[in-house]
Amino acid sequence: MICSRQDISRTRVFSTNTSEALLDGVGERTAPVLDSKKEAKMPISLANLFEVVADDLQTLNQNLHSIVGAENPVLMSAAEQIFGAGGKRMRPALVFLVSRATAELAGLKGLTTEHRRLAEIIEMIHTASLIHDDVLDESDMRRGKETVHQQYGTRVAILAGDFMFAQSSWYLANLENIEVIKLISQVIKDFASGEIKQASSLFDCDVELEEYLLKSYYKTASLIAASTKGAAIFSGADRGVTEQMYEFGKNLGLSFQVVDDILDFTQSAEQLGKPAGSDLAKGNLTAPVIFALEKEPKLREIIESEFCETGSLDKAIELVKQCGGIERAQELAKEKADLAIKNLQCLPKSNFRFALQDMVVFNLERID
Ligand code: IPE
Ligand code: IPE
Ligand code: MG
Ligand code: MG
Repeated sequence: MICSRQDISRTRVFSTNTSEALLDGVGERTAPVLDSKKEAKMPISLANLFEVVADDLQTLNQNLHSIVGAENPVLMSAAEQIFGAGGKRMRPALVFLVSRATAELAGLKGLTTEHRRLAEIIEMIHTASLIHDDVLDESDMRRGKETVHQQYGTRVAILAGDFMFAQSSWYLANLENIEVIKLISQVIKDFASGEIKQASSLFDCDVELEEYLLKSYYKTASLIAASTKGAAIFSGADRGVTEQMYEFGKNLGLSFQVVDDILDFTQSAEQLGKPAGSDLAKGNLTAPVIFALEKEPKLREIIESEFCETGSLDKAIELVKQCGGIERAQELAKEKADLAIKNLQCLPKSNFRFALQDMVVFNLERID
């Protein structure tokens, strides 16, 4: 389906395989459907997507360096290693977009200091979780650069992650909003639960989709949900809206993790800026494998042997692809994306809401 969105500041034409339902609401701001033969597909770019909050993100990048603190030079340079490497800044962008989209509802003119600090705290927690995740996954590359543990050793990486979790908790407490403090501290706990859940089910071919989704909620969706709900709380939005924003973040987060798990099969390390093909190799059985296992009993044997035979990992990857594991995971990502779009319907129409919708579509387009 091809849509054009000429009623917002940027003009962009895109096509996706997204379901009709997913595009519900998007159509409300579109010009008539265009002839796909005349219009070339132009994927959403992050720069376009974040254009409406570009200044907010620039301020965030400046502030991130100062909130890490200068107390410990080793931890500072470890933090600099990963902050400086960039990253998409998707979570703070979500905080800014939801803040601005809900501020209107509550009669606020723009962002408050609390909104900005929340975005910084969220990116800091995310970064800390990546540092620890890379230790657990034994990954040597992140954001196109060497990981913290690769460069400074595991001990420094663990301490740098802990330091950033602690520093973010301190800034969180200083926001003096008990609802947000409870919300975000739960996320830090969830992250550890997710990593433990994953570590205790490696190479377990009986893992069910529900369990995988729960683990993905703990590792990824919980933080994104807290980001979007926290932003709405600081706008003073009512309970109905803050709950929908939580659901939006949760569904987007699940869709995002499923897409990340598909990309691990389909993209190169160069494209990802982090190791590719490593989930299955390490025994982390994600959506494509769980679906493939339903169709192909031979796959179980190979996985349970923990790829001891030469060439067996490649054989397993081939089987996952052959029996439609990737396509079924793609459908799952779309299902969650569909729900996320619906959660946005409580917001007034604005460029911020449209950017949030685009963000959901952008995530799916990563696997097109
Ligand atoms: C990576 O998150 C971890 C997952 C939840 C899959 P991002 O893909 O948002 O990482 P950066 O911040 O852009 O590096
Ligand atoms: C998400 O899971 C990681 C965190 C929430 C920290 P992954 O293990 O899939 O993330 P990547 O692929 O290493 O970025
Ligand atoms: Mg990882
Ligand atoms: Mg991954």
